[in-house]
Amino acid sequence: MERPETVGQLTDTLRRGSYLADRGLATALFIALNLQRPVLLEGEVGVGKTEVAKVLASVLGRKLIRLQCYEGIDTSQALYEWDYARQMLHIRALSEHQIADDAAVDKLFGPKFLLERPLLEAVRAGDQAVLLIDEVDRADDEFEAFLLEVLSDFQISIPEIGTIKAETPPLVVLTSNRTRELHDALKRRCLYHWIGYPSAERELEIVLVREPGIAELLARKVVAAVHRLRELDLAKPPGVAETIDWARTLDFLGETDLDTRIAQDTLGAVVKERDDLDLVRENLEEITSGG
Ligand SMILES: Nc1ncnc2c1ncn2[C@@H]1O[C@H](COP(=O)(O)OP(=O)(O)OP(=O)(O)O)[C@@H](O)[C@H]1O
Ligand SMILES: [Mg+2]
Repeated sequence: MERPETVGQLTDTLRRGSYLADRGLATALFIALNLQRPVLLEGEVGVGKTEVAKVLASVLGRKLIRLQCYEGIDTSQALYEWDYARQMLHIRALSEHQIADDAAVDKLFGPKFLLERPLLEAVRAGDQAVLLIDEVDRADDEFEAFLLEVLSDFQISIPEIGTIKAETPPLVVLTSNRTRELHDALKRRCLYHWIGYPSAERELEIVLVREPGIAELLARKVVAAVHRLRELDLAKPPGVAETIDWARTLDFLGETDLDTRIAQDTLGAVVKERDDLDLVRENLEEITSGG
């Protein structure tokens, strides 16, 4: 597949994959692609951080390799593991045939019994892949340090097999919700881009791109209401994902407009905290009054 030659081309390509990137994001991705730098996307919840990596892979014709981070994730879950069950079966077969030479035993730690995890897979795939390291802030410090090492040379050493190196590194997209600060060392290695909430006009465009069947009036009202919601002091302000969900829900119910009654009945698509619900209900009239 053709690699986009300008920021504008990349923006158009993403749009064809139903992703609307603003200039800053498109520029960061364009540089990441061409200068082979990882890009770190931070931002509010549900603003398209994960999605952009998925769409990029799809429009560039690359494989998406996803490493989902979580508390307690360790290197074996990220790099590789030995297929213990198959090794055991193999050992049993060997002993049945009374084979115990070194070569047969060495094979137990050969490629056949190696389970590839995302980072190894990405190193092998090189520039045929987009590596999404999702929600890196959930992993702990040690894992972050380890990631830094992998990201600096795209080289993985497996004692029993040898060193595997990416000829050309994959495009790496890291995302974080900022539940904690990432280390400077990791940030320094990456291009950084903050994705905030889109403007109302932009968000309307995103809803219509994602749900082309929805009446524009309805979409406009939903976006306006969501923007009001974000001004309230909510524990969990709605992201773009919720805007799309709400519009889709209303459309599914056959609504073409947003009034207080139907908003009340469908709030569960946008407000997902008990205390937030109370606050929103008190202000529902005002929230649904514009467009
Ligand atoms: N700029 C955009 N263009 C098109 N769709 C978008 C855009 N931003 C968000 N979306 C939509 O919002 C949804 C949620 O996005 P995504 O899951 O990537 O959010 P996120 O930032 O990763 O959120 P979280 O922090 O919860 O992981 C996507 O599935 C997509 O439909
Ligand atoms: Mg995400």
